[in-house]
Amino acid sequence: MKKITLFLVLFLSFGLVFSGVIFAQAKIPADGKAVWDYVKKEGYAKKWKMWPGTTAMYAGPEPHGAFLTTYVNGPALKAITGKKGKFPVGAMIVQDNYGKDKKLKFIAVMYKVKGYNPQDGDWFWAQYKPNGRIDSEGKVDECIKCHAAQKSNDYVYTSKLK
Ligand code: HEC
Repeated sequence: MKKITLFLVLFLSFGLVFSGVIFAQAKIPADGKAVWDYVKKEGYAKKWKMWPGTTAMYAGPEPHGAFLTTYVNGPALKAITGKKGKFPVGAMIVQDNYGKDKKLKFIAVMYKVKGYNPQDGDWFWAQYKPNGRIDSEGKVDECIKCHAAQKSNDYVYTSKLK
């Protein structure tokens, strides 16, 4: 009897912790600071994969950095490798933008949030200084206007999603 109780307690607490982790991940709001804190905590530059087909410090176009390293989280990676055509809710792309001198200049983020901005692909946009200061965040016109040229590719440029 005692063993069974112990087992049940363990089972339930694992369940709680596990669902807590999933819940926490699904709950990152469309908020510049919350997103920054999350990607920092995640250690994206060490733990996430680079966008398939790209390597560190590839040459980038204006207005992005002269050199770029682009990271994707798990859901985003799956959508790219699975040729899904678009990203699921929770997908996150974090791009380190370097100057010609190869110094980190700013970090650009796209984060897919359910119902956030249906007419423009439900992307939350943000740009940060390397110290986390927010340059811009939200439904940023400037980002959307240019990325909208890729509307049929879920607003991304780096590779075809289909
Ligand atoms: C004038 C056009 C233009 C503007 C403005 C622009 N981007 Fe981009 N962006 C691009 C291009 C082109 C790429 C592809 C670079 C690459 O990875 O080769 C890109 C790539 C990205 C990526 C990697 C995913 C992808 O689309 O391939 C992110 C993330 C991103 N931009 C975020 C932003 C954010 C955030 C803003 C606004 C603060 C912004 N961009 C403004 C043109 C633009």
